[in-house]
Amino acid sequence: MKTIFDSTIIRSVSLKNRIFRSATWMGMAGANGCVTDAIVDVYREYARGQVGGIITGFTSVSPCDGELPGAMRFTGDEHISGHRRITEAIHAEGSRVFLQAAMLDTYVPDASGHGGLKIVNDLTHDDMRSIVDTYANAAARAEKAGYDGLQIHAAHFFGLSRCISPLYNQRQDEYGGSAEGRGRILVEIHDAIRQSVGKHFAVIIKINCSDFIEGGLTERDFLVVCEMLSHAGIDAIEVSGNYTSRTNVRAGVGEAYFKEAALRLKSRVPTPVILVGGLRSIETINGLIGEEGIDYVSLSRPLICEPNLVARWLAGDTRPSRCVSCNSCYHTPNHQCVTRLHDKDA
Ligand SMILES: Cc1cc2nc3c(=O)[nH]c(=O)nc-3n(C[C@H](O)[C@H](O)[C@H](O)COP(=O)(O)O)c2cc1C
Repeated sequence: MKTIFDSTIIRSVSLKNRIFRSATWMGMAGANGCVTDAIVDVYREYARGQVGGIITGFTSVSPCDGELPGAMRFTGDEHISGHRRITEAIHAEGSRVFLQAAMLDTYVPDASGHGGLKIVNDLTHDDMRSIVDTYANAAARAEKAGYDGLQIHAAHFFGLSRCISPLYNQRQDEYGGSAEGRGRILVEIHDAIRQSVGKHFAVIIKINCSDFIEGGLTERDFLVVCEMLSHAGIDAIEVSGNYTSRTNVRAGVGEAYFKEAALRLKSRVPTPVILVGGLRSIETINGLIGEEGIDYVSLSRPLICEPNLVARWLAGDTRPSRCVSCNSCYHTPNHQCVTRLHDKDA
C-alpha cells in the first residue's frame, strides 16, 4: 500500500515523500522580480521542514507580462543566478524544486518588442507561437538554474487557464471550438518544453478541474484536456480549481475539496495526480494516498502557518495543521500567517 512517506520518482526526480508545497506567491521579490535573501530563506525553511517537492510561487516568464506585486520573474538570463540560489538552498536540504511558470494574462509581444494584453479571442497564430516559445525558453533557463522541473500554471483564471476556458475562448479555429481545441495550446507548450530541456527535467501542470462559473470550464473539459496532456507525456497533473483557497476548512471539515475530480482523473490516466486544496490532517492524507489512489498531495496555507509541519508529522506528532483557513495570509506583509505572527509576538 502507498504511504505518505514513500520515496518516489517523477520522471528522474527522486522525492523523499509524497508531499508538495503548492505554488504560493509570497510577495517578497525585489525590483524587476528578482530573488531576495528573504525568499531563499523561506524556501530553505520548507526544505528543512522535510517537504519533498517545493513548487515556487507564481513566477512570470513573459517579459511583457503584467505585474503581480512582489512576484518573482524569470524572463531572461539575468535572472538565472538569483534562481540558482533557490535551487541550491533547497537541494542542500535534500528536497526537490519546480519553477511555477506563469503569465498573469495573455500578454504578447508587439512589433516594438514590448507588447501588451490581448484577449484570447484576438491572439493570432504568431501570438500563440510566441507564448509557446516563451515557455520553452523559460524551461531552458530553469534547467540552467538547477530546477528539477517546471510547472505550467493553467489554473485560477491566470493567463493559460483563460485559453482553456470557454468563458474567455470563443475562437472557432484550431485553438478553440471544443475542449480539444482550447487545450491545444497546453499540449504545444508541453511539447516545446520537452524539446528545449534534457530528458531528466520534469514537466508538470497545475490546472482547474472546473472554473465553477456558469459558461466556464467544466469537469468534462478538464478531463479531456488532461487526457491530451497525459497522452503527450506530461509528468504529473496538480488538480486545483477556481475559488482555490476555500475558507471554513479544518481537520475533518471540508477537507480535500477537489478530491472527486482528482479521483475521476485518476481513473482515466496513468499520469501521477497531485491533489491540492484544503488538506489539513494526516488521517485524510493517508486515506487519499493509501486507500483512494491519489499519488501526491500539495499544501499551501498549512505550510505558511507551520513550515515544519511535515517534519512534525514525520517525528510522530500527528496533530492536524494549525491552519484555520482564514485567508488572512493573502493580505499580510509577505503573506505571513497571523497565527504565526501572534506566536512570535507572544
Ligand atoms: C497567499 C497565497 C498565495 C498563493 N499563490 C499561488 C500561486 O502563486 N500560484 C498558485 O498556483 N496558487 C497559489 N495559491 C493557491 C495555493 O497554491 C493552493 O492551491 C490553495 O491555497 C489551496 O491549498 P491550501 O488549502 O493547502 O492552501 C496561493 C494561496 C495563498 C494562500
